[in-house]
Amino acid sequence: MSTADKTEHQTQQDAETIDFGFRDVARNDKQGLVRGVFDAVADKYDVMNDVMSGGLHRLWKARMIYALYMRPHTTLQLVDVAGGTGDIALRAQARARRLGASLDAHIIDANAEMMKAGRKRQAVQENMQQANNMHFTTGIAEQLPLPDASADMLTIAFGIRNVTDRAAALQEAHRVLRPGGRFVCLEFSHMPSAVLQKAYDAYSFTLIPPMGALVAGERDAYQYLVESIRRFPTANAFLGEVEAAGFARAEAQLLSGGIAALHMGWRL
Ligand SMILES: C[S@@+](CC[C@H](N)C(=O)[O-])C[C@H]1O[C@@H](n2cnc3c(N)ncnc32)[C@H](O)[C@@H]1O
Repeated sequence: MSTADKTEHQTQQDAETIDFGFRDVARNDKQGLVRGVFDAVADKYDVMNDVMSGGLHRLWKARMIYALYMRPHTTLQLVDVAGGTGDIALRAQARARRLGASLDAHIIDANAEMMKAGRKRQAVQENMQQANNMHFTTGIAEQLPLPDASADMLTIAFGIRNVTDRAAALQEAHRVLRPGGRFVCLEFSHMPSAVLQKAYDAYSFTLIPPMGALVAGERDAYQYLVESIRRFPTANAFLGEVEAAGFARAEAQLLSGGIAALHMGWRL
């Protein structure tokens, strides 16, 4: 990080408040509030993803896994930060199997309830002989409980938006990756077309909270979701943050016209 970046980071750290949806809350309170959201929705989280996105999240996640550039017939270590129920790890393992590679997945999440739902799901998959080598650990993105240069790939899907200290989380991702390691982040983003963004806003603010109430019994959690998406930086601004963390050949790719975006880079 340059001196200017460090000063900017320190300024962010010193700020007393931070966004939590459309509200500004005390910086120290955000993690607990985010935990409350995911505690509330853990059991219905996977099904709500399909309902809200009409299945689109599956296509985005497939693109994310493809962007990892897994090499065939290798043994790979994946760290999936904010891995929740283990959805990304399961998809990565499926791809590794198809490539004749073997993949150990380390899922790190701040929220034990989300991982509990993931373990239940893993138990079902294990019965179907589909999942193994998945390790769930409680921890935060800003302070990963992992040694330096220990992973070949690090993913974070729909997690970075919830993190209190994004710069620290990106630096941790860089630290944990081996030289040659691949970073891929999937997150909601913003549509360059103002007309489409307006239509999407109308859909998300009008329909998603009531759907959350109906399917998961949690309107407020899904109100937070749509608000937090609006407050997340644009793809270009976030790309600057990925570059500032030291990732090489960093790039952003909009998905579905900018509803979501992939941000990728290499640890050299
Ligand atoms: C929207 S879910 C995404 C889960 C999973 N990656 C997926 O795509 O299905 C966001 C997850 O981020 C986790 N989370 C929020 N803040 C975090 C932090 N600071 N460090 C690690 N995980 C965090 C939440 O507990 C939750 O499981």
